[in-house]
Amino acid sequence: MKGFLLLVAFFVGCIVIVVLFSFGAGISARRVASPTEQQVTRATWRFLVPGKIKIKENPVPDSAETLRDATQIWVDRCVVCHGNDGGGTSMGRTMHPPAPDLRKVLTQSLTDGELFYVIEQGIPWTGMPAWGDGTPDAEKDSWTLVRFIRSIPKFTPADLRMIEKFTPRATERVDRDRRPAPLPGGKGDTPLEKLASK
Ligand code: HEC
Repeated sequence: MKGFLLLVAFFVGCIVIVVLFSFGAGISARRVASPTEQQVTRATWRFLVPGKIKIKENPVPDSAETLRDATQIWVDRCVVCHGNDGGGTSMGRTMHPPAPDLRKVLTQSLTDGELFYVIEQGIPWTGMPAWGDGTPDAEKDSWTLVRFIRSIPKFTPADLRMIEKFTPRATERVDRDRRPAPLPGGKGDTPLEKLASK
């Protein structure tokens, strides 16, 4: 019951936010969410994270193995929106609200428990999916990813090159597709025709 009431409160909060910040502006996900709008969204979900989870310590050790496991999960599930370095891909950045730059202080100042909760539960009415399924295995993955997020600001260019090696090609394609080059005209000259002739 409490959960349901919180969900209703969250929903009403979202409507208030939309009305306050978007009234008269039409409806479009192309409009960049203002910093205030993003902060209100973050404050709303932070308010809803249960207190005992907020202060939970990360049970997964801070080790090289954890980082290796985390990198594999990261490239598999997160890179498509958050990018190799957590700065966000063109797809993540054009969501509304956008995927935030996870290296910045606004994310890094969240508690481990808050990061864990967001990964497990996702953020309703945004592009952030829920990755938990209630099992200890999924919880371990989420805590492992929390270690990864904490490491992002310390990554060296060599670390990033290593992550890139694991990155699925589809992500590169999504990035490229957002910035289409002008199509060349003429017979046999379109990108698809060129592909077909390869
Ligand atoms: C389909 C796109 C998408 C994918 C995939 C995705 N995210 Fe997100 N994520 C988002 C968006 C959009 C937000 C911002 C939501 C908001 O502002 O309320 C977000 C927010 C977050 C936040 C909160 C940061 C903050 O400062 O508020 C964390 C932490 C996070 N994501 C971690 C992850 C992890 C870890 C994964 C992979 C397991 C992942 N995300 C996969 C889109 C995505």
